[in-house]
Amino acid sequence: MAGKVTVVGAGFYGSTTAQRIAEYDIVDTVVLTDILDGKAEGLALDLNQSRAIEGFETKVVGQTTTIDGQGYEAIADSDVVVITAGLPRKPGMSRMDLIETNAKIVRGVAQNIAKHAPNAVVIVVSNPLDEMTALTQIATGFAKNRVIGQAGMLDTARFTNFVAEALQVPVQSVKTLTLGSHGDTMVPVPSRCTVDGKPLSDLMSAEQIEELVVRTRNGGAEVVALLKTGSAYYAPSAAAARMVKAVIEDAGTVMPVCAWVDGEFGIEGVYLGVEAELGRQGIVCVVETALTENELADLLAASEAVREKQNDVKDL
Ligand code: LAC
Repeated sequence: MAGKVTVVGAGFYGSTTAQRIAEYDIVDTVVLTDILDGKAEGLALDLNQSRAIEGFETKVVGQTTTIDGQGYEAIADSDVVVITAGLPRKPGMSRMDLIETNAKIVRGVAQNIAKHAPNAVVIVVSNPLDEMTALTQIATGFAKNRVIGQAGMLDTARFTNFVAEALQVPVQSVKTLTLGSHGDTMVPVPSRCTVDGKPLSDLMSAEQIEELVVRTRNGGAEVVALLKTGSAYYAPSAAAARMVKAVIEDAGTVMPVCAWVDGEFGIEGVYLGVEAELGRQGIVCVVETALTENELADLLAASEAVREKQNDVKDL
């Protein structure tokens, strides 16, 4: 076993991501950092004490960091860094309402990653996702294939869960796909949704499918409204941890992620939710999923919407 993964931010999203990666037992070290003094160290101690019960050898290292970058030496030589830093939504907020606050936080984190872990693949989960991913690439100066956002895995998982519940079938029998943005221009891909290989459109009416699509699009907000403080983290951390695993294991796994698209689908230069192959260098390639005319039109519209916001982000 070799390898080192850092998770920046020890809130619920960050700490559950660190836990999942540690429990996979695929790397020597998981570093968990936070700006709250002692929080990351405390959670790391606790996680390490679970090793004997859960049976994993990965060592979790907690590290307090400061705004001016102290403590970041601990992330040196990380193979993958996950950025969870930033504020979550409050009930009634959209992900986009977080853009100014989180841009400042994410920019600072990204600069410290560039300084201390210049060879890392970076996985961004902070919101608004597509914009924070674009900002991280700018602030690190890393090659675009080495900066990836997590959203498609989560949105797809939510969609799959809703379909499985509605049809009362096992989750494993359902395949769904969402592309586009992690937000209002999320693009469901009905032509790729199946239950035991049968097209979803044979099993549900168009209205029923649309209902589940809307619920998926609002999937994060629905959890936020129930929790009242904080946002979802079990499904989000599962998605982020699987992406880390695909990179560490150089697996060539194809998954929906936020990746730099430049030419695929006729879309030029934008971070967008697409299917991509993940490997040790981050994105190996964007997969040009076969789409119907309508789906492609929706993806193009989504790309224009996120491009506009991403152009603003460099000035925040
Ligand atoms: C969500 C947040 C994490 O969708 O974006 O739950």
